[in-house]
Amino acid sequence: MGRMQDKVALVTGGSSGIGAACVGRFRDEGAYVVAADLKPAGEGFAEPDLFVECDVTDEAAVQAAVAAATEHAGRLDTVVTSAGVAGGGPVHWVDSAAWDHVLGVNLKGTFLTAKHAIAQMLTQEPVDDERGSVITVASVEGLEGTAGGSAYNASKGGVVLLTKNMAIDYGRQGIRVNAICPGFIDTPMFRSLGDPESDEMLLEVREEHKLRRFGRPSELAAVALFLASPDASFVTGQAIAVDGGYTAGRDHGVTQRMGL
Ligand code: NAI
Repeated sequence: MGRMQDKVALVTGGSSGIGAACVGRFRDEGAYVVAADLKPAGEGFAEPDLFVECDVTDEAAVQAAVAAATEHAGRLDTVVTSAGVAGGGPVHWVDSAAWDHVLGVNLKGTFLTAKHAIAQMLTQEPVDDERGSVITVASVEGLEGTAGGSAYNASKGGVVLLTKNMAIDYGRQGIRVNAICPGFIDTPMFRSLGDPESDEMLLEVREEHKLRRFGRPSELAAVALFLASPDASFVTGQAIAVDGGYTAGRDHGVTQRMGL
């Protein structure tokens, strides 16, 4: 039996990258999975049980996506808010419409998705003391600053604190809320930054990960699966870095000089 047997999950941004990896893994574990995205899954990405066209900045569309997921079995057990966009720059260069777009998709989109998913979960009878699990996708860039991050980091920092607040607000009702904070993960969004094999900036970024490699979407889906499952029944209000050690601290090469 799968670890999400007969559970119902909604994944925003489920047509690509980390969201699509969650769709695939959750389905492999027995869940019925609805993907809500601007467009259906591209080639090579996992197909959901149901695709719902949805812009997460549009409240009516988000509400309809939650309703479509709930229709399957009368409940929604898990939501993953993976819809996101990159964007930023030093603030005196940032166009205010671009700022609104990044904050709109990443932060407001997370709020709207959580709002309607949690409203549904609150109507459900608890199973094993639990009404549902909300998993937001923030970033290591929501935990610390990065050059040129501005709008993106502000949005992801907002997601981290929104997550903690929701965990506080809904713990009594049996709803767990946690954030996943990925390091740099090999997805289409990441590839838009440059070629990871040759781009000098990306090679430097790779070295910041103490495992000296970029992450794979499946490694994020594995942590999302844990947070969705009863194995995480006492985990809420956390921002879990899944980052190959990116946020562990600085490495100035001292141990390397010692021969390690
Ligand atoms: P991706 O670009 O492969 O996938 C993002 C998905 O979100 C796409 O399918 C896109 O169509 C969808 N999307 C964008 N705007 C939307 C909207 N308004 N409404 C509905 N769907 C929308 O990106 P990736 O890398 O899988 O990113 C997923 C999440 O992980 C994002 O929130 C991103 O910020 C976050 N993240 C990614 C990292 C990485 O290195 N790839 C690092 C840290 C965080």
